Parts: sequence; C-alpha cells; structure tokens
Amino acid sequence: MNPTTTPKTWTKTADRPLRSAWRSAGVWLLARFMGVPVPWQAVHQRDGRALLAYEHQRLLALGAAGEAVPPVLAFDGHSLVTGDIGRTFDHIVNETPLPQRLPLMCAAAEDLAGFHARGHWHGGAQARNLTWDGQRFARMDFEEPLYPAMPLNQVQLYDALQLLMSYARFLESMGPGAVRDVLQAYRSASVRAFAARGVTPPDLPSFIQRLMSRLRTVQRVLHAVPRLRESREAMRLRIVLDGMAAFTAQHTGH
Ligand SMILES: Nc1ncnc2c1ncn2[C@@H]1O[C@H](COP(=O)(O)OP(=O)(O)O)[C@@H](O)[C@H]1O
Ligand SMILES: [Mg+2]
Repeated sequence: MNPTTTPKTWTKTADRPLRSAWRSAGVWLLARFMGVPVPWQAVHQRDGRALLAYEHQRLLALGAAGEAVPPVLAFDGHSLVTGDIGRTFDHIVNETPLPQRLPLMCAAAEDLAGFHARGHWHGGAQARNLTWDGQRFARMDFEEPLYPAMPLNQVQLYDALQLLMSYARFLESMGPGAVRDVLQAYRSASVRAFAARGVTPPDLPSFIQRLMSRLRTVQRVLHAVPRLRESREAMRLRIVLDGMAAFTAQHTGH
C-alpha cells in the first residue's frame, strides 16, 4: 500500500548538517526528563552517511511491510531520493476549521497506535513528520536509531508523547479535555489493536502518571517566579497537566 505520491521528489544528502552537540544534549536531557532514557549515541549522530543509510533501510523495511512511507526512488550512499507524500499534518490541522480539528488529531493518534500494534515505531512521530491525504496517514523522517537501543514499548510511548507535544499550539486553545481525548484516542486504539494480536500494549497510563510528577515540579518552579507564572509556557503546561490528570483518572478510577 503506497501512499499517494505526486511527481515531486525529496532529496536528503549525507553531508547535510547534523545535530550539534549542544542540540543533542538538549534532546537527550529533555527525553530523560520525560522519563525516556534515550541513549546518547542514538541522539548524537556524527556520521551523515551512516545516518542516511539507516533511514534508507528503515524506509525499505517499512515500505515492504506495507506501511505508508515515502517510496525510495534512488539511493547511492550519498543521497536519498524519495517520492513526495503530500503536505504535513501540522499544516493540515492548522487549516482545518476548529470544530473538526480534534477528531482529526485523535484520528492521527489512533493511526499511530495501529502502526505500533503492527510492531513498528517511528522515532520522530511529531505532526510535522506525518501527512494525511484525506484518507490515509503516512509517515516520514526515520533517522532516529532508538530501537533496539531502547525497549520497543518505551520507544512507542515516546512516539505517543511526541505526537501529543507536537499538538501543543492547537491544544492551547482547546483546553485540557482535548489533551485527555488525544491520549484516550491513542490508548483505546492501542488496547484494541494490540489485543487483536495477542500482545500487551505499552502502558500509557503509568507512563503519563510518572511524567506528571516530573511536570508538576516544573510547574512549581514556574509558579515561584512571578514573571513566568503568567507565561504562555505556564498556561500550556497547566492545560497539558490537567488533561493528563483527567486521562489517568479514567484509568485508576480516582
Ligand atoms: N517524502 C516527502 N513527502 C512530503 N514532504 C516531505 C518528504 N520528505 C521531506 N518532506 C518535507 O521536508 C521536511 C523535512 O524532511 P524530514 O524527512 O522530516 O527531515 P528532517 O530530518 O530535516 O526533519 C518535512 O517535514 C516535510 O515538510
Ligand atoms: Mg522531520
């Protein structure tokens, strides 16, 4: 099942700038803080050719497994040419009228759960690495070698969190209920889809529960500084935390 493609193509080369050590450290720290112990080697890539070869292999494997990813048109070790799979989901959500946004965002979360149940992981599941043609979601950007360095269910939980966080600017105006709905959409779909395969789904409620206690610490710090207390970041954090609390309450019965 190939995603819809247009005549447009995309080229990634082995000599494009890699993540700097500072940026890698930022990603590493943030992920650890979120409770996702990503290995340093996975975050800080130094070999552009190896990275490109890795992404090439991932695209071939996922394509062969029937997943909607960009088709590989050419690869010579230095450049990777892929077919276009359309506009990215962050733009699509942005252009969608407000009342239809949340169902669409939840649909992407459900689609991610199905992808996970089929035994896959993204490693960069943000809305900017996703497309939607009106019928199907397709994924791109597979250059994070998180698995098998990390257990599969951890990487999948990280995917779910990255998708949720990439929705932050939309969730801000929608409120905590929307955060809960996105998490619940992923959770319900994953319980169904994993059960159909006789596999235990990743434990999203426990993961979110642990994350909440860390985020509450950040919230206390923000609250202690008058200038930050009223900031946009503090507001987003409150919405996310309230939504996470509503989500976990559904799973613990509190
Ligand atoms: N095959 C593709 N189809 C559609 N858009 C693409 C494709 N490849 C890249 N893009 C666009 O280019 C951006 C960057 O490509 P991506 O593979 O995500 O690389 P990066 O590692 O720089 O994030 C994407 O967010 C998307 O907008
Ligand atoms: Mg990308």
